[in-house]
Amino acid sequence: MESVDTHDLIFPYLLRKVTERAALASYKWIGRGDKKGGDNAAVEAMRSSLKELKLNGTVVIGEGEKDDAPKMYNGEVFGDATTSNHLDIAVDPVEGTTYLAEGQTNAMSVIAISPKGTMFDPGPAFYMEKFSAPAETRGKIKMDWSTEKKLRTVAKLLEKDLESITVFVLDKPRHRNLVEEIYQAGARVSLYPAGDVAGALMAVMPDSEIDVLMGTGGTPEGILSACAIRAMGGEFMGRMDPQLATEIVRVREAGIDTSRWYDRDELIGSEDVHFCATGITSGLLFSGVKSAKHYFRTETLILTGTTKEMVSLTNWHSR
Ligand code: FBP
Repeated sequence: MESVDTHDLIFPYLLRKVTERAALASYKWIGRGDKKGGDNAAVEAMRSSLKELKLNGTVVIGEGEKDDAPKMYNGEVFGDATTSNHLDIAVDPVEGTTYLAEGQTNAMSVIAISPKGTMFDPGPAFYMEKFSAPAETRGKIKMDWSTEKKLRTVAKLLEKDLESITVFVLDKPRHRNLVEEIYQAGARVSLYPAGDVAGALMAVMPDSEIDVLMGTGGTPEGILSACAIRAMGGEFMGRMDPQLATEIVRVREAGIDTSRWYDRDELIGSEDVHFCATGITSGLLFSGVKSAKHYFRTETLILTGTTKEMVSLTNWHSR
């Protein structure tokens, strides 16, 4: 089997089919209270589109272990892994499964692709503390600073008043102190129940209402965010921050240093990264799937690291 060339200019437009199809497949599960139904439909669509694409890659950021079928598992291989040009694949067929099941905003389907060995392997660390902000701040915010100093410096670099800085934070009990610190600093908080990939990307995208993302969310979502943000050229930092009792033990046993912040370029070690996300339900980044008599409409964000192209693509799919 001949593998697809990811440097071909047409590649991003082929890759977007993977998330478009996953979003379309999960559409009928929106607002049905069934997280598994929507996720399974998206997984199957993503898997068959990836097979069609003839990628030669391995899922390194997937949805857990092989016995969790039908999820896309870490180590799942697409294409002929014996040829050279190997790729790392990170997927989240539905980012925001609860949003999808409850018919709320911000569910989306996401994929990232990069050369083999360039995506960080988080081992047993399921949770990561994250910081993301626009390109102007890259390398200039120290993670051991107080929340106030971080936000004050961001505001200065963005030439904005601190009062107008908006920080995306997941609405979780673990963030109570962080939210208080942001209020005390004088900045705004935008609290969302889920979906911190959207938050991380919004912090970096031009003309968004979010300036910064702070707080702890999923590690796979952190790696996917780092891929997108490397492709766009913004700031992203991550630190393993285990929350679950079993995770804390496994992370300690694996010798992971939970005080160490990883730079964006350590989480994704190549500029040659592709990222696509398609809206399932409408949200901060784009519209979700829209249904009309003869067509479904999708909106997809396509990011290409080597060219720094950011494309927003609306596509009409005949029913
Ligand atoms: P799911 O699609 O797996 O539900 O993830 C949604 C999400 O909100 C992510 O965006 C975020 O990184 C993570 O869950 C946070 O996890 P938790 O809700 O356990 O704090």
